[in-house]
Amino acid sequence: MKAPTYKLRNGAEMPAIGLGTFGSDKYTAEEIANAVYGAVKYGYRFIDCAEVYGNEREIGGALGRLFADGVVKREELFVTSKVWNDHHGCVAEACERSLDALGLSYLDLYFIHWPFPNYHAPGCDGDARNPDSKPFSADEFISTYRQCEELCRRGLIKAIGISNMTVSKLEATLPRMEIMPSALEMELHPAHQQPELFRYALEHGIRPIGFCPLGSPSRPERDRTSEDIAAMQMEEIVKIADAHGVHPACVCLKWSVQSGAAPIPFSVKEAQYKSNLDCVCSDPLTEDEMETIRRADKNCRLVKGQVFLWEGAEDWRELWK
Ligand SMILES: NC(=O)c1ccc[n+]([C@@H]2O[C@H](COP(=O)([O-])OP(=O)(O)OC[C@H]3O[C@@H](n4cnc5c(N)ncnc54)[C@H](OP(=O)(O)O)[C@@H]3O)[C@@H](O)[C@H]2O)c1
Repeated sequence: MKAPTYKLRNGAEMPAIGLGTFGSDKYTAEEIANAVYGAVKYGYRFIDCAEVYGNEREIGGALGRLFADGVVKREELFVTSKVWNDHHGCVAEACERSLDALGLSYLDLYFIHWPFPNYHAPGCDGDARNPDSKPFSADEFISTYRQCEELCRRGLIKAIGISNMTVSKLEATLPRMEIMPSALEMELHPAHQQPELFRYALEHGIRPIGFCPLGSPSRPERDRTSEDIAAMQMEEIVKIADAHGVHPACVCLKWSVQSGAAPIPFSVKEAQYKSNLDCVCSDPLTEDEMETIRRADKNCRLVKGQVFLWEGAEDWRELWK
């Protein structure tokens, strides 16, 4: 199976679906690396990585085996990574560490994972607060972004990505950028469609990449709240899935690609990652089905980011202004 692609503003072709690699505390780095091997062998060409996921060395091992076994060449793959919040002051070192771990000489896209340097210990409790955390600052963000621009000029990254942004943060920072971002990683599933941000990104030549495209059913307990809505259980999604004779996961992914995003579903299970790729290559949703899903938006954010709040902040909504 070969996924459709999007042409990014730097001229590169990005596959319209990728494999996520955040194991949510549930899967080991080896299991995820094995999934990367199997998924690329099956036809995936886009792998979404990040240093904070703690598995780039193992994924690098899988990529090395894929190259050695002649399954793909480096230039046929689209590999991303992300600078974590506590490395905003030393982006080049973080990027070089990711390249070394992944065994690559360049990344196709390198993201600023969150638009502020607020740091929390991996796996910490949702109510934990770091006393050094501060509200978003356009100056701080641009100083981090400048370092990404330098990585682009050095050829270590082909394009810059931004992640977890809002329209107002983009308005405050886009005019100050010298190399425009090619993609925006954003939470995107039928229960959280962020139409304003989505439109804004496309209008500015920034391709949306959808994280948690299935509503992240395996996310850690600390990231769950009683108001969360499960995208794959929404009645509209289940009904459309029944009409097509497919799993609700397929409806979420078809909707995402047909909307113009590149979803990056995570799975270490062979049947799941194969079906996730297959379903975006055939049997599209009808216009009526797309419209039904558009109207079913619940504005229900799952990745709230509350661990990045500063002291005195009211609640997680302040992060998304
Ligand atoms: N930029 C950011 O800040 C950010 C934030 C979050 C995520 N991400 C990226 O986005 C990726 C995806 O997000 P996510 O992993 O949180 O959520 P997700 O892709 O929405 O959900 C993944 C889970 O869905 C289930 N699943 C996968 N395929 C399925 C299928 N065909 N049928 C039924 N269930 C299926 C699996 O659960 P089981 O394992 O229980 O089977 C899997 O663990 C991450 O891995 C990461 O690369 C980025």
